[in-house]
Amino acid sequence: MYVCICHAVTDKKITQAVAEGVESMRQLRHCLGVGSQCGKCVCHAQQVLMEAQQVK
Ligand code: FES
Repeated sequence: MYVCICHAVTDKKITQAVAEGVESMRQLRHCLGVGSQCGKCVCHAQQVLMEAQQVK
């Protein structure tokens, strides 16, 4: 499912990024661009990020 429409980032991509060492929204924004355009996805992206970290 798409989390960030502006940058076509899916929840899977975020989970993958976490597996590769991303630990914060700042890093996520830096490597995938999540939240850097309209900002509407930030809340959801944060949730996916946290969930991915718990699984990890
Ligand atoms: Fe992510 Fe717009 S949906 S920046």
